[in-house]
Amino acid sequence: MDMWLNQIAIRTKPLAKQAVIKLQRLKLYVLLSRRLVPDYTVVHEEQQGAQDVLANNDPDGQAADKPAGKTTMCGLSRLTAVSGSKVLGGAWLRRHTTDDGSPFSGYWFVSLNVRTLYRRMGIGEAIVLRAMDQARVEGASELRLYASEDNHTAIALYAKLGFEEFCPPFMEKIQANHVMRCGSRLVFMRKDLARLE
Ligand SMILES: CC(C)(COP(=O)(O)OP(=O)(O)OC[C@H]1O[C@@H](n2cnc3c(N)ncnc32)[C@H](O)[C@@H]1OP(=O)(O)O)[C@@H](O)C(=O)NCCC(=O)NCCS
Repeated sequence: MDMWLNQIAIRTKPLAKQAVIKLQRLKLYVLLSRRLVPDYTVVHEEQQGAQDVLANNDPDGQAADKPAGKTTMCGLSRLTAVSGSKVLGGAWLRRHTTDDGSPFSGYWFVSLNVRTLYRRMGIGEAIVLRAMDQARVEGASELRLYASEDNHTAIALYAKLGFEEFCPPFMEKIQANHVMRCGSRLVFMRKDLARLE
């Protein structure tokens, strides 16, 4: 019996998720969800020992077109939206403070995700704002990120917060790999932190 129930749960979960995502396009849903936001905070935690793993800070792990020279990984931290013991969403902040011309030097905001049921509540926006604050406190002049060109939701969120499209150098191979794997290009965006309100 348990096995059957498990099977039903496994099969219906993706359908339920898709249904919620469709509902989240409705203005009424957004209005209601803004009233149901749980109490949460965005926690920033420095990750120890991540330098070696992410020494190249490269989304596809193969930025072969970049100029010779080692990019130094200076830090990685996790931003997590938590409500009590529940994780609602999170992202990573990566930093390379040595600008050696590598396309991934500087501060990068990556892998933002909010759990489906907690979307449209302002949590994604709060995580990006927290990352912008952290980067600015650390002296960064700008924060960069990327999203698939067909991820209109994420691009709308970043544009709302003042991120503007830009073209980092040496991205041809990364773009080609992304198109081959996902069928779409990456959009690169940056926010000038000196202009932070
Ligand atoms: C993208 C994502 C993080 C947004 O998180 P969220 O908590 O739902 O976003 P917020 O509620 O903070 O919305 C902030 C703004 O983003 C934009 N936005 C968010 N969801 C949207 C949607 N479904 N349709 C259109 N715009 C949307 C709007 O501009 C919104 O501002 P508004 O409420 O004033 O209209 C979330 O949808 C998600 O986790 N998606 C799957 C993973 C993903 O795509 N991550 C991005 C990787 S680059």
